[in-house]
Amino acid sequence: MEAIHTVEWMKQVARQARAEGRLTGLVPTMGALHAGHLSLIEAARRDSSPVIVSIFVNPKQFGPSEDYKKYPRDFESDRRKVEDASVDFLFAPSVEEIYPPGFRTSVNVEGLADRLEGKTRPGHFRGVATVVLKLLEIVDPRFAYFGRKDAQQARIIRQMAADLALDSEIVVCPIVREPDGLALSSRNRYLTPAERKAAGVLHRALSRARLAIEEGERDTMRIVSAMRRELAEEPLASIDYVEVVDADSFEPAARLARPCLVLLAARFGGTRLIDNMQVDLAESGGSITCTL
Ligand code: PAJ
Repeated sequence: MEAIHTVEWMKQVARQARAEGRLTGLVPTMGALHAGHLSLIEAARRDSSPVIVSIFVNPKQFGPSEDYKKYPRDFESDRRKVEDASVDFLFAPSVEEIYPPGFRTSVNVEGLADRLEGKTRPGHFRGVATVVLKLLEIVDPRFAYFGRKDAQQARIIRQMAADLALDSEIVVCPIVREPDGLALSSRNRYLTPAERKAAGVLHRALSRARLAIEEGERDTMRIVSAMRRELAEEPLASIDYVEVVDADSFEPAARLARPCLVLLAARFGGTRLIDNMQVDLAESGGSITCTL
């Protein structure tokens, strides 16, 4: 595996792979790699070659009071992990390489970026879209892989790729979870043992929603109330939002009549965690599948 640190060299390597007719796969990450990231790499290895993983802790997607400075960085351990996962290239540029002095451009995906995560974290998705577009421009991969763990992010990137007629296909992969259901996240390592135990309530709240839906509940207000009751049982959890939204528009959905997402965010001490469940309706109507 080769580690690449400059935009120019990354472009040249990617250009060469394209010239050879190969289907490049890109997995953008901020490092502190865990099994969730590795599942994206596995998906990439199934349909792409070469596989390129980027590691870049993107300052533009952190708010002024967020954890940019203390975000976990462990390049050597990440390097070993991607090497063991048979990744072909690791792209790890510096901040100056991605944002040279005088950098002025940003990408805003109107509407989709203002609600939910975007409301709590103003400017977050502008930072995400800007860096992801830049990575896609540098590598111009045939496929780029993202996790449904960050469902709003995946939706925004899909919209950006469609709006800007990018050649890369955006592939969204399932959520990888711990045995108690907690979605893997680089931020889980901030949790104290008590908070880590408490964080299992996110999955319990989603499971509560799934049960209600399987029992026939279609009124989203009642589904949200049931989830809030479940979350209230956990004193260490402080709710940021619990919402059911249309999977396409991300606008609140009153009833489960179209594909939806059940989204939630909560704080455990100083750590903010998000999770979601996908709700799909069968073509023929009636039956519903919930995917956690
Ligand atoms: P990061 O949080 O490192 O996540 C990189 C990718 O891994 C994202 O697509 C995310 O959705 C996915 N991922 C994280 N946890 C996952 C899990 N438990 N199961 C499946 N996939 C998971 O998301 C970012 O970085 C950044 O915003 C980035 C897109 C790299 C832009 O800076």
